[in-house]
Amino acid sequence: MGYKAKFRVWRGEGGEGKLEDFTVEVNEGEVVLDVIHRLQATQAPDLAVRWNCKAGKCGSCSMEINGRPRLGCMTRMSTFDESETITVTPMRTFPVIKDLVCDVSFNYQKAREIPSFTPPKDVKPGEYRMQQIDVERSQEFRKCIECFMCNNVCHVIRDHDENKPAFAGPRFLMRIAELDMHPYDELDRRESAQEDHGLGYCNITKCCTEVCPEHIKITDNALIPMKERVVDRKYDPLVWLGSKIFKR
Ligand code: SF4
Ligand code: F3S
Ligand code: FES
Repeated sequence: MGYKAKFRVWRGEGGEGKLEDFTVEVNEGEVVLDVIHRLQATQAPDLAVRWNCKAGKCGSCSMEINGRPRLGCMTRMSTFDESETITVTPMRTFPVIKDLVCDVSFNYQKAREIPSFTPPKDVKPGEYRMQQIDVERSQEFRKCIECFMCNNVCHVIRDHDENKPAFAGPRFLMRIAELDMHPYDELDRRESAQEDHGLGYCNITKCCTEVCPEHIKITDNALIPMKERVVDRKYDPLVWLGSKIFKR
């Protein structure tokens, strides 16, 4: 059965803004994004919200719902009490363009700073051979939909713009870990993970893992193993060299 929900939505642009209250109709089976679309259609036609797939796969509709990073299209209205006021704000770590839409270019910049997969020059296409376990290990990380909620929630940059130049955030530290675990990647990623991308800033709070809509175990399967590999490298460079040679 339908009901009227109380929504408190962040409105503003250019660094200025405030929360505005609305009462919006909700129908059975709807998600928060449906209600925001109804709000646009009936009361706030200029309300800015980014979305694409409405299926939890494009990573566009990241927002904070009652203070928690969530995908608007995957957050069912039935998870809230009908009398509750639902507060919807943009992701806090990135600058707001307008209303619920953030400028997430920080993330694209960090992606560009990571050297791409670097296989040995003498291996030709069709000659790559990988153990199934190596395939499966990186498969988990490749489920990432780039919603950037992990980077948004990480305390290292959430309220600390000054750390942004030195910290790639969990999403991209995970990318470095994925490349470092690849048996055919020839770059030594460990020193640069620590020195250039800020792995040492991560103190394993695991908030990134908690918010990941793809349930990727970012901390346990990418960041902690990467930290261990950095320590191995630091104390014994032969361990790193051996791991690459013997995996072939
Ligand atoms: Fe989103 Fe998870 Fe990818 Fe982070 S790792 S960007 S939370 S899908
Ligand atoms: Fe940040 Fe995740 Fe580490 S939230 S501190 S990157 S475990
Ligand atoms: Fe694509 Fe929500 S609209 S993930």
